[in-house]
Parts: sequence; C-alpha cells; structure tokens
Amino acid sequence: MRETKLSAHDFVLPLFVSEKIEQRREIRSMPGVFQLSVRDAVDEARQAYELGLQAVLLFGIPATKDEAATAAYHADGIVQQAVRAIKTACPQLVVITDVCLCEYMSHGHCGVTQRDGEHFHVLNDESVALLVKTAVSHAAAGADLVAPSDMMDGRIAAIRQALDEQGFDQTGIISYAVKFASAFYGPFREAAESPPQFGDRRTYQMDAANGDEALREAALDVEEGADILMVKPALPYLDILWRVRERFGKPTAVYHVSGEFAMVKAGAEKGCFDERAAVLEIMTSLKRAGADVIVTYWAKELAGWTRE
Ligand code: PBG
Repeated sequence: MRETKLSAHDFVLPLFVSEKIEQRREIRSMPGVFQLSVRDAVDEARQAYELGLQAVLLFGIPATKDEAATAAYHADGIVQQAVRAIKTACPQLVVITDVCLCEYMSHGHCGVTQRDGEHFHVLNDESVALLVKTAVSHAAAGADLVAPSDMMDGRIAAIRQALDEQGFDQTGIISYAVKFASAFYGPFREAAESPPQFGDRRTYQMDAANGDEALREAALDVEEGADILMVKPALPYLDILWRVRERFGKPTAVYHVSGEFAMVKAGAEKGCFDERAAVLEIMTSLKRAGADVIVTYWAKELAGWTRE
C-alpha cells in the first residue's frame, strides 16, 4: 500500500572538484563530503555508478579567480577536465554541470557586478553572456545536462539558443528555476570557496516569502526551454515544489542543500535522532511532494539504504 517508494534512480550526487588539491579534503561543516582532485572525482563517479546512481552534478573550484570568471568557460577549466575524465571512465553515467560564476569570480557573486560606493548591482545581460559561454564549454566537454544556478533573467533561452547553434541540441537544461536566497547555503560556500566578498545574493535570488513569484519564475524557464525545473532548498519549500510540479507537469528536481545536510548530521551526532531514519523520512517527503529527481549529499548512502 506504500504510495511513495525511493530507489537509487531518484538521487543525484554533487561532487566538488578542485584544481588546487592532490589529496581529498573534507569540508568542515559537512562530515563525509570532500573537495576532490579530478582523479578522485572519477573514482567517486565510478563508485556512484556501481552503487546504482544515474547521475552526478559537478561543481568546480578553480586555481585562479578574476572579475570576468575566465576559469568558468576555459576549455581546459576544472569542470571541463572533470567532465571529460568522468565520461571517458564511465560513459553511461549522466554528468550534470552546475553553471554559475560565483566560484570563478574574485568577488564571489553569481554575475558581473558593478559597484558604486556602498552599493553594487549585478549586470544581468553581461552575466548571461558569460553563463552562455560556460554552458557551451561544458557541453563541448561532454556534459549531458547543464544546470544554470545563477538566477539571471533570460539565461535559459540564451543558453538553449547557443547550444542549438553550436551543435549541442542533445544537451539538456536543468534550470534552477526557483532558487531562494537562503541561510542554508552556508556550508556550500565553504565547500565551493564562493562566499560573496560584499553584499549578499538577495538582488538575484528569491525572497522566501514569495510563492506566486516562484511560479512566475518557473513559467519563464518553461517558456525559454528548460527540460527539468529545480526548486532549492528543499524542506522549507515543499509547498513550492508541489505547486511547481502540479502547475507545469514537467520533470521536477529538488536540491536538498548543504545547510539542510549539515543540520541533520549535527542533530544525529548529538544523538537527537537516527541519521538513516531521518534521511529516509526527509527523502520520502520530497518525493511525495512531487520531486522526480533529488540532489543530495547522501546519494551514495541512499543507494544502499533504499535497496535493503
Ligand atoms: C551557486 C550555487 C549555490 C548552491 C548551488 N549552486 C550557492 C549559492 O547560491 O550561494 C548551493 C548548494 C548547497 O548549499 O548545497 N550559485
């Protein structure tokens, strides 16, 4: 009678690939999650595939940052290298790349910024131009799906058009259609070395208070050609996930983010609850609320837990 069943195919494993390290390095606030060299990322990806997972999501940490995010769209950038290496070692595994500029910008914002004194703003169209270059370079390296997470306006249409024009019409787009300005990204910013050096992301990420606006954001991305819609974070936004799934009937992903992961880890370590039971309950709630795909740092463990 169980309505909602989980399996390894529901989960996507995020991987942080760094150009700066040889040895894997654990992220302080995310026990069991590591920054990886390309070689270690290939091992992780292979392991993920053998455990029954279908997909990984790659984030890059470049050796150098600048104000044009040059390393984001370099043909031999860290993500581009990792995609090629993983697709060579494990051609069946779906490789998704996070397309954003914050890890590559010296100021840590997701786009090109202009500052006047105390104030700054993100230049939307200039940022979209760089995001397009980044997405095309990921596709050229062999990415199966690109996942723009920047929240600029018009980027899905621009990326779709450029991919099609340059022969990558088979590359899909997962849009972070509804991404809230959230307190729960804290540990990620350590993992990806991308905290904003000034200001915050509230001018381009969404206000937690706005549900109708979330649907308008998602509608734009549907029109512009997104294949899969993503809602992020997960647990505080189950209502949004449900509404997006119901309204558009598109494949819908949800990102259970770093802070949500850290929170459960910390609670379990304190003996407040059993980690596995808590994680299975959370994942079941996400799927019940409409998620077709769940991005989670527990993907590997879940592949095992859901088989038993
Ligand atoms: C990049 C990006 C972020 C996350 C995914 N892509 C961070 C942010 O917007 O600050 C967060 C993922 C997580 O917290 O696990 N823009």
